[in-house]
Amino acid sequence: MKKTVFYSALMFVLAGCASTGAPAGGAAPTSDLAAPEASSASAFYTSQQASRGDGLFRDNCVSCHSSSEFMGASFERRWRNRAVGDIYEFVLYAMPDDNPGGLPEQTYADIVAYMLQMNDFPAGGSELPTSLETLMQMKMFADGGDR
Ligand code: HEC
Repeated sequence: MKKTVFYSALMFVLAGCASTGAPAGGAAPTSDLAAPEASSASAFYTSQQASRGDGLFRDNCVSCHSSSEFMGASFERRWRNRAVGDIYEFVLYAMPDDNPGGLPEQTYADIVAYMLQMNDFPAGGSELPTSLETLMQMKMFADGGDR
């Protein structure tokens, strides 16, 4: 049902890698692959991606987790001063616990976008990429979360 959204979003990401896929109205990095400025902005996923992630979380994670585990103080305690890539790396290699790494990379990225949305990180004009290297440059709680 969400296929159209999925494929057009994917094409947007691919276009963004190949050229300057500048998202509408933002402090837009020029490319997903080399965007050090992205680390200071916290708008690094789209709300479409987060709602895809919501569905994928239900499909793949709720047998063992509830989404409330990954929001609020407990999320912040665990991931403060870490990068988005740290969460991505963890779920990519360790989750689902009964099938580690068994899902497409895009699924993990979408679920991480969902987690960011649950924690009130603002959505922006470009999707969270699946490149671990890029995600490692995206720090969370950059503004005042480190007290
Ligand atoms: C078969 C059960 C199972 C499934 C399915 C599963 N997990 Fe987990 N998950 C666990 C267990 C057990 C732990 C704690 C062990 C650990 O930390 O290594 C855990 C820990 C985690 C953590 C770190 C703990 C925290 O509070 O941040 C994250 C993040 C996570 N899971 C995400 C996911 C995501 C995303 C999915 C779906 C793609 C998923 N899990 C599917 C069993 C599961």
